[in-house]
Amino acid sequence: MSDHSNQPDSNQPEQPAEQASNESQAPVARTGSMGNLDTHSERYAERTAGMTASEIRALFAVASRPEVVSLAGGMPNLAALPLDSLSEEVARLVSEQGQTALQYGSAHGVPELREQICEVMALEGISAHPDDVMVTVGSQMALDLVTRIFCDPGDVVLAEGPSYVGAMGAFATYQADVVHVAMDEHGLRPDALRQAIDEVHRQGKKIKLLYTIPNFHNPAGVTLAPERRPEILEICSRNGILVLEDNPYGLLGFEGQTYPSLQAQDPENVVYLGSFSKIFASGMRVGWVLAPHAVREKLVLAAESATLCPPTLNQMIVSRYLSTHDWLGQIKAFREQYRERRDAMLGALEQYMPEGCEWTHPEGGFFVWFTAPEGVDAKAMLPRAVTQRVAYASGTGFYRDQLGSRQMRLSFCYPTPERIREGVRRLANTLNEEMELLRTFGSTGQRDISGPQAPSPDTA
Ligand SMILES: Cc1ncc(COP(=O)(O)O)c(C=O)c1O
Repeated sequence: MSDHSNQPDSNQPEQPAEQASNESQAPVARTGSMGNLDTHSERYAERTAGMTASEIRALFAVASRPEVVSLAGGMPNLAALPLDSLSEEVARLVSEQGQTALQYGSAHGVPELREQICEVMALEGISAHPDDVMVTVGSQMALDLVTRIFCDPGDVVLAEGPSYVGAMGAFATYQADVVHVAMDEHGLRPDALRQAIDEVHRQGKKIKLLYTIPNFHNPAGVTLAPERRPEILEICSRNGILVLEDNPYGLLGFEGQTYPSLQAQDPENVVYLGSFSKIFASGMRVGWVLAPHAVREKLVLAAESATLCPPTLNQMIVSRYLSTHDWLGQIKAFREQYRERRDAMLGALEQYMPEGCEWTHPEGGFFVWFTAPEGVDAKAMLPRAVTQRVAYASGTGFYRDQLGSRQMRLSFCYPTPERIREGVRRLANTLNEEMELLRTFGSTGQRDISGPQAPSPDTA
């Protein structure tokens, strides 16, 4: 399946996918000829108040040390990609079509790629016209654009609790309020959705979007049960709420299974986001949005203002890859690789974790959502875990309201199965020591940690 020499080097930093999405959100303190941060901060627009570094980003400096097994990041494993044949295709593309590939294009995206995207989406039951697809710089850009055209400050976005950090960053940037809707092992709960809508309406607020990741959820690792999907669509349509379906992991079901897309069931009330980040290469930064016609037109205008057009070269590389490579076979190889890693993680959790822990059993995607025993504060424990050379993403970062203190996201996408087992063993040791402290002192003495949300590099 994969060339062993391409296996991830354990000395290579494991960079969380969210790092990129949050990099630009944090104001950076600088001094120099332009003055200092204090002077500038008085001039920032109000909306920058919502732009803060995520816990995951702050953790990155520590988690990327080679001796630390990072179960924190969401980086896809690209070891199985056919790099040699890919580089030949790229060279051919530049020599044969360089004048086009290196030129500006349209904000809508390269037409041939939009047609191919329709073929990709057909695998999940979506029947779309290429005109209604717009190419974006990753689906992260689509999250930004959709929020930009729909949300005024104070508008409410409903989102699963927990939810994807990068999406919540986009919602915060446009000063939208996130209200979480509870999930269980079958995904978003329709009864909780009804309750949340009633509660928000009682407060006199406007709900603009339901943001949902139905398949192999980031970070929860669960999938929305097919029988719940029509009910959720019906609730949203009755209440005038647009559904934002974010589906970067849908083709990564470990048994090759797919689920009926929400978009296919209600095309007029769903905006669908897709991405090549997890099924090809995240560094290409090519994603897409499929939207009802009028919404798509507005999105193209917003995209023009953001980037003029997505990179033509990258779009053409992705398009060539799809037409010259066995991309379906490649997705199968990715699935097998991730399944092996998922199995390594679940097996190690079973073997090493103490009583009272719970975790989800993902059937696809990248993540396990782990709940520690009562009394454990995952964020406070993180510096001690890093001292034991393991890192995770603590649960509070995936909520707007500081829920999730006993929870953590454990990623199995990037480290090798061996490293995953070792990382889980170290995490179990940390937890055991934590619980020993709790039993002895009733607290671990770290609950009042304030200041930076993550450990400094010195804690490792
Ligand atoms: C649920 C979800 N949506 C969107 C994204 C952003 O992906 P892209 O690389 O396409 O911008 C991610 C990346 O981790 C994700 O997990």
